[in-house]
Amino acid sequence: MRFLYVVGTRPNFVKTAPVIAALRERDPGGRHAIVHTGQHYDRMMSEVFLEELGVPAPDHMLEVGSGSHARQTALVMERLEPVLLEEEPDLVFVPGDVNSTLAAALTAAKTLFPVAHIEAGLRSFDRTMPEEVNRVIADVLSQLLFLHSDEAVENLRAEGIPDERLHFVGNTMIDTLAALEERFRAAGAAAQLGVEPGAFLLVTLHRPALVDGPLLGETMAQLAEVAAEMPVVFPVHPRTRKMLAGAAAEQPGLHLTEPLGYIEFLSLLADAGAVLTDSGGIQEETTYLGIPCFTLRDNTERPVTIRAGTNTLLGLDPAAIAAIPAALADRPSGRHDPPPLWDGHAAERIADVVLAGA
Ligand code: UD1
Repeated sequence: MRFLYVVGTRPNFVKTAPVIAALRERDPGGRHAIVHTGQHYDRMMSEVFLEELGVPAPDHMLEVGSGSHARQTALVMERLEPVLLEEEPDLVFVPGDVNSTLAAALTAAKTLFPVAHIEAGLRSFDRTMPEEVNRVIADVLSQLLFLHSDEAVENLRAEGIPDERLHFVGNTMIDTLAALEERFRAAGAAAQLGVEPGAFLLVTLHRPALVDGPLLGETMAQLAEVAAEMPVVFPVHPRTRKMLAGAAAEQPGLHLTEPLGYIEFLSLLADAGAVLTDSGGIQEETTYLGIPCFTLRDNTERPVTIRAGTNTLLGLDPAAIAAIPAALADRPSGRHDPPPLWDGHAAERIADVVLAGA
């Protein structure tokens, strides 16, 4: 068969790598073309991930770069269309919920190539989030919807998507994490930063609702307070770095770093006492690893992580950060049972579905 995998951002690589590997293994004579849209392009946001995940060099680089939503989406569409016509895929994989996902699903649908959406059916029910719009459109245009949690079934049924398109296969991001576990457990990233395993707060923040306005300054002030009680390690996303623009001075206990590679980041995540984030994927990774996660948002499209007991929604409210050290003292730690089918084998189930229909 002829497969085309369209990736563009850091989390896309993590979600798609095991699917490419599983299908290459099961269909070695098939065509497995990788398209990198270039939505993320810094070495530490892109190449490092492909290398660490063992993803082959992309066959097509669209180099769209940064821009407004309309421009980024339009550039992916314009540059992907001739690639689709040249490759003539039997199936186009689009992962997650970023602008590249939306653009690729739309272009494939218009050129009449079938689409498979990895991580379908998540809903925050908040259409002010760009990702929510991307998810809804990608799902409606996909022939195969691969679900990572059972709650996605209800979301999709409510939007009228027929059951025969839904496949609850589990979480491919957890496949990647499980496959890398030996390597990241041995990486010792906390020691390299001079923080004690189990005793620091790991922070990631990059959502526009938080970092593109005054809440970012309030958040940094709260983190400085927490840092007096427990060290804070904060690898700063380029969007956030731009908004901080020198305002975030290093101070005792507050370690701001450049974006990290995936092994190094997972090493910190596994050793963190707790995590503060507005990311989607990190809510899942902490759930699998049994690390307390505090999510600085009003909602989550991943309520399964709240039911699992690892994730707490703080609201989009920097003042809530102050309560984290006390909340940690009160809660039991340790590894929980992961949600159903977060078992390291989701990509194999995707390959089963795809090849059964071939
Ligand atoms: C994008 C996704 C978001 C996802 C996140 C993961 C959309 C709408 N957003 O957000 O859902 O959670 O990726 O990281 O698709 N930049 C660089 N170098 C890079 C990439 C970005 O400097 O390699 C800077 C640029 O200034 C750019 C800004 O970061 O304007 C934002 O990048 P963009 O890809 O538009 O959105 P993200 O915030 O990364």
